[in-house]
Amino acid sequence: MTLRLVVLALWLATVSASAQVPLSESLRDDSEDQYHHFDPPVRRVAVIGAGPAGLQYASVLRDEGFNVRLFDRAPGPGGNWFSSRVVPIKASFPDRDVKTGSYTPDVPKDLPRVHEYKEGEDGVSLDARWRDHWNPSPVWEHLTSNSAPFFTSLPETKYPADIEWALPQSAIRRHVRSYASAKGLNSNDEESVNITSYSTRVEYLHKAAGNDVWTAYLRRLSWHGPRLRAEWWAEEFDAVVVTVGYDSSHVPNIPGLASWAQRFPDQVYHSREYRVPEKLGGKNVLIIGASVSASEIARDIAPHVTAFSISIRDHERNTYMQRRSLRRLPPNITHIPEIASFGSIPVNATGIQELNINLLNKTTIRGFDEIIFATGFVRSLPFLADYHNSTIKGREEPEVKVHPIITDGGSLRSLYWTGHYIPDPTLAFKIGRVWTVGTYHALLLARTWKGKARLPNERLRWDGYEGPGGASVFDGGFGTLGEEARNRKLLVHLSTEALKFGGRLVTPWPIEGREQFVYYAEHAWEAGYTRSENFTRWENVPESEWGSGKRDESNVQWIPEEW
Ligand SMILES: Cc1cc2nc3c(=O)[nH]c(=O)nc-3n(C[C@H](O)[C@H](O)[C@H](O)COP(=O)(O)OP(=O)(O)OC[C@H]3O[C@@H](n4cnc5c(N)ncnc54)[C@H](O)[C@@H]3O)c2cc1C
Ligand SMILES: NC(=O)c1ccc[n+]([C@@H]2O[C@H](COP(=O)([O-])OP(=O)(O)OC[C@H]3O[C@@H](n4cnc5c(N)ncnc54)[C@H](OP(=O)(O)O)[C@@H]3O)[C@@H](O)[C@H]2O)c1
Ligand SMILES: *[C@@H]1O[C@H](CO)[C@@H](O)[C@H](O)[C@H]1NC(C)=O
Ligand SMILES: *[C@@H]1O[C@H](CO)[C@@H](O)[C@H](O)[C@H]1NC(C)=O
Ligand SMILES: *[C@@H]1O[C@H](CO)[C@@H](O)[C@H](O)[C@H]1NC(C)=O
Ligand SMILES: *[C@@H]1O[C@H](CO)[C@@H](O)[C@H](O)[C@H]1NC(C)=O
Ligand SMILES: *[C@@H]1O[C@H](CO)[C@@H](O)[C@H](O)[C@H]1NC(C)=O
Ligand SMILES: *[C@@H]1O[C@H](CO)[C@@H](O)[C@H](O)[C@H]1NC(C)=O
Repeated sequence: MTLRLVVLALWLATVSASAQVPLSESLRDDSEDQYHHFDPPVRRVAVIGAGPAGLQYASVLRDEGFNVRLFDRAPGPGGNWFSSRVVPIKASFPDRDVKTGSYTPDVPKDLPRVHEYKEGEDGVSLDARWRDHWNPSPVWEHLTSNSAPFFTSLPETKYPADIEWALPQSAIRRHVRSYASAKGLNSNDEESVNITSYSTRVEYLHKAAGNDVWTAYLRRLSWHGPRLRAEWWAEEFDAVVVTVGYDSSHVPNIPGLASWAQRFPDQVYHSREYRVPEKLGGKNVLIIGASVSASEIARDIAPHVTAFSISIRDHERNTYMQRRSLRRLPPNITHIPEIASFGSIPVNATGIQELNINLLNKTTIRGFDEIIFATGFVRSLPFLADYHNSTIKGREEPEVKVHPIITDGGSLRSLYWTGHYIPDPTLAFKIGRVWTVGTYHALLLARTWKGKARLPNERLRWDGYEGPGGASVFDGGFGTLGEEARNRKLLVHLSTEALKFGGRLVTPWPIEGREQFVYYAEHAWEAGYTRSENFTRWENVPESEWGSGKRDESNVQWIPEEW
């Protein structure tokens, strides 16, 4: 009896002691000003881009009660996987400024405005105007995925049970479209008429100083029989999610190249414009580049061409995807060194066959019928003109008036790990691998904007900023420790905030999937790429011991965050 009373008394003493924290102390612990307050509250949200990411963000935000608008410049949902035989408009040689890389924003003074284009108006055909507007996807007819179905799928959406690991691009297209339909976001879904706006390019996104609303300036093109109609208008939003990836083709600025590409545009082009191998039948083709597009196009054209060569820069390639690409090159492709310059154009030139190509090893070669630049992409996002600063190079972070989001077309800047633009978190960007965590990240944005998940104040967000493109442990593609660390942080954050404010708990990627992935990666990517333990590696290690700070630039395992 006595003992129990003593225990009870001790227990009561402990409880009351912990309850007797001075008021100021408790205020400091749970102090509101550590956190950001969305005032006015976020109600209307724009999602820019209806790829696998944007579809998930629009669907989650709508279901969480926001008034959502989803814009895509393409005529339907799917993003990269809205693939077709329509050939994208020719890449610019040389690259345009990053700021207008993917298009030059078109915002008339008087809004709204309607105009019907005539064939050949301003020297532009209707067909070219249409393709320039929506920028068809880079995906070619025979492309297959370099990721397996079980980690290239959207929630509640299935692939046929017996589908092969290397997914035909058309299977991914159908998969993403069926997700869009299931969520009522497809181009012909009646219930989405007030949500989706396809063939609608965001031209300019602007928030005036001291203002609370974002204004999106929009342009939609539509065919009316043989006529092409353009409509321009503006809409206002409390918050915006950008789910646009690399939107512009990149070509190297090799001396002499631009004049040849302009003179013979059908013979010199970017991998984005490659569609079918039959077109290259009987030709001698040169591919420039050493990555996935280069090796996969080489494999596709191998049986059709009479000869083919590849120009690869001479340096070590440290990522598994780079090594895999080199291994996948057809063994009978001719390797040539990096190109130093292209010769001048003879006045009587009739094609690039007469083009002298000067190699870095001082040899000159010629005789190619077509040259394909598989030299990658940049992120241009011209609608974010207010947040571009191209004078900033590499990873430098100078004093600035406006914290830039885009500098050289590579990694995005000034973003917190949650994807929010640090100076104004009503603007957010997709983070993580869209197939794996897109829905969870969308949920995080929804809860943050509803006040059901906390976001640190601006000073704390800058304190936690790891530099352009994230850094340190939050690097890497699927199955890397970095990716797993980020996913873990995202899931744990969602669940701890749900514990405090309510909301359903989220579950990690299924444990069975880990074993399957290790097996897949071993065979399809590279032996020893990852181990099952890499997925659980952080489980017994507190975040404070994950390590952070500078990434080791000498051994950068950089994988595009798209992946
Ligand atoms: C050739 C190629 C092959 C790939 N293969 C694989 C693969 O095998 N496996 C894999 O996992 N990933 C692959 N990827 C990566 C691919 O990007 C992702 O699979 C996925 O599509 C990313 O989805 P997203 O929604 O983030 O972006 P995206 O799919 O790129 O969608 C972005 C959307 O934004 C729209 N948009 C852009 N600018 C504007 C604007 N101003 N206004 C309105 N809309 C705009 C675009 O039209 C597009 O529809 C590949 C990428 C490329 C380029
Ligand atoms: N599923 C598929 O089959 C498939 C197909 C295509 C693309 N993709 C995906 O799409 C994304 C983009 O791939 P990508 O291959 O188009 O682009 P990328 O991975 O960015 O590669 C660009 C290549 O261009 C080369 N390059 C740049 N400038 C050059 C120059 N001056 N001379 C010679 N080479 C130069 C680079 O060479 P260095 O190596 O020397 O830097 C690099 O090899 C990736 O995520 C990829 O996985 C997937
Ligand atoms: C779309 O919005 C209009 C105008 O507010 C409304 O009348 C209509 O019912 C809405 N349609 C749907 C499908 O929600
Ligand atoms: C290269 O080899 C492949 C496989 O043997 C063959 O199908 C193709 O015709 C060859 N291409 C050229 C250009 O030699
Ligand atoms: C330079 O490269 C070309 C193409 O591969 C090759 O034919 C030539 O022999 C090389 N020249 C030298 C000097 O190595
Ligand atoms: C162009 O002119 C040069 C000499 O001036 C000649 O050698 C070459 O064969 C000509 N090319 C064509 C395609 O006529
Ligand atoms: C752009 O960056 C430069 C430094 O490279 C800086 O001086 C300038 O102020 C920046 N512009 C804006 C608008 O912030
Ligand atoms: C998996 O973990 C091992 C051990 O830490 C590491 O060496 C390897 O790079 C990791 N693999 C990936 C893909 O991150």
